[in-house]
Amino acid sequence: MPSDLSPIDKAKFVAAKKATEYVKSGMKVGLGTGSTAAWLVQCLGELVRDEGLRIKGVPTSSRTAMLARDVGIDVISLDEAKWLDLTIDGTDEYDRNLNLIKGGGGAHLQEKIVATASDQMIVITDPTKKVETLGAFPLPLEVIPFGWQTTKMLVEETLIGMDVLGQTTSLRMNGDAPFVSDEGNHILDLHLNRIGNPRQLSLVLNQIPGVVENGLFIDICDIVIVGFGDGRVEVNNINKGEVEKSRFDFLDDGNLFSDDI
Ligand code: 5RP
Repeated sequence: MPSDLSPIDKAKFVAAKKATEYVKSGMKVGLGTGSTAAWLVQCLGELVRDEGLRIKGVPTSSRTAMLARDVGIDVISLDEAKWLDLTIDGTDEYDRNLNLIKGGGGAHLQEKIVATASDQMIVITDPTKKVETLGAFPLPLEVIPFGWQTTKMLVEETLIGMDVLGQTTSLRMNGDAPFVSDEGNHILDLHLNRIGNPRQLSLVLNQIPGVVENGLFIDICDIVIVGFGDGRVEVNNINKGEVEKSRFDFLDDGNLFSDDI
């Protein structure tokens, strides 16, 4: 690990490092997408190379697939794996019930399919992603390109009847062109500010023709691991109803050792 990381990168790194403790040889592991998940993939790659960890990784995006192969993880498709022991991914927001908004990186469709096909989903994050109520982060909605403007209109009409504070939507861009997901779709970002009933909103949005999947992850995540810039880590387990605290210490050479607090 480079020793000159920013506090936020240190936070992401220690969360990722802690999550590797849940990965055992022989497991099929879903690999998330984004900057936090990229630390996880690097940490797993190190364990594969240096400590003989044997895993099959199912990536949730072409970006993650490339990184996983680069670091030496044996990559297979979800169709080959069929069911996974564990998925580890980042998030854009999480609340006290461990419900999430994901898709800031435009990969929430594959991420949701992979996480749902796993015995357990662990989210790794820094403390900035914790919210009282979901919705400050724009909710990503993957839509098919055919008729996307009509779909956008229907989504906006639907939002008028929902328990949300904002109702505007925008097409995600990549420079001058619409963003295109790994599945060849576009993303609408829904600026809702506050989502009063995430479960209901998720169900209603997915009923609109042209909508493929929204970025709300309801009752999918089991554990949130929060890393802090000073090396502290909190493991929040919704099933056990407990928070376990530990700490990694950064050494001068950039290496880590861990301690229980
Ligand atoms: C990608 C995602 C990411 O997990 C989410 O955007 C968080 O990314 P980062 O770890 O870079 O903050 O949902 O679709």
